[in-house]
Amino acid sequence: MLKKRDKAQLFLKNNLKLFQCPVCHNGFESIENYQLLCKEKHQFDLNKKGTLHLMLKSVESEYTRDMLLSRQRIAQSGFWQPLLDSIYPKLQKVDGAILDVGCGEGSHAAYLKDKGITEPLIAFDISKEGINLAAATYSDPFFLVADLADSPFASGQYATLLNILSPSNYSEFKRLLKTGGQVIKVVPNPDYLKELRDLKGSGADTYSNEEVVSKFEEHFSTVHKEKVRYTYKLSKELQADFLNMTPLGWHLDKNLNNITDELDEITIDLLLLVGSNA
Ligand SMILES: C[S@@+](CC[C@H](N)C(=O)[O-])C[C@H]1O[C@@H](n2cnc3c(N)ncnc32)[C@H](O)[C@@H]1O
Ligand SMILES: [Zn+2]
Repeated sequence: MLKKRDKAQLFLKNNLKLFQCPVCHNGFESIENYQLLCKEKHQFDLNKKGTLHLMLKSVESEYTRDMLLSRQRIAQSGFWQPLLDSIYPKLQKVDGAILDVGCGEGSHAAYLKDKGITEPLIAFDISKEGINLAAATYSDPFFLVADLADSPFASGQYATLLNILSPSNYSEFKRLLKTGGQVIKVVPNPDYLKELRDLKGSGADTYSNEEVVSKFEEHFSTVHKEKVRYTYKLSKELQADFLNMTPLGWHLDKNLNNITDELDEITIDLLLLVGSNA
């Protein structure tokens, strides 16, 4: 079996046209000896984990490794599985590369790849911690550190941009999408994690997604909306991870004995938006 770094190099060789240099925005010319080289000879190293750092500066993130590990354990327990199962068939509808924007610790992209995605799948996040953890845990898909605000991906090459609970940048989205491509954006509905919001001390206000949805609708002429709502039985062993995985839980008194019963069943209430680049 190929080492992670060799597997990543092979992926880059086969998919060089999907990327662009973050310095000069030209395409890349070659990947040899784990070195990616653009037409202007800017050079980026593929590290031992098989990931790239295609950002010119590092950014501090509020998500620590500890929090990302909690989020990963929750993801691996199937918390987002019904959501991902409803996204999966939509990915089959448009042929071509898929980009997971703000992939965090990588579980969603890894799950979709595992389920049977055969098109090139790239997942990126601005958080180095997130990408390190993703690449350490999963050998697929291809992970890298990058910033959506100035992304190192080539124009007009992507069939699907996946934007799950992460920020959007519509001018970048339009630049990246090929004709007929789609953005699949997932935003919380008001009842998302309501059991956590209801706990005293979470400090969370009721959430409205109206502004985000109307912004999305401004940018696409066809928008398909789908509600994804289900409940998840949270085991006692995962309660601490659940409280740690989202900023909503960080301010709570962590005396779990007091809140155990209220977190037995968690509501996952999400809105799936699909916008087409017709
Ligand atoms: C709430 S997390 C969601 C992560 C993952 N999609 C999930 O559903 O578990 C939002 C993610 O967006 C990332 N993010 C924020 N700004 C970004 C940017 N400009 N470029 C890339 N990723 C960004 C954060 O680092 C974080 O991992
Ligand atoms: Zn360059």
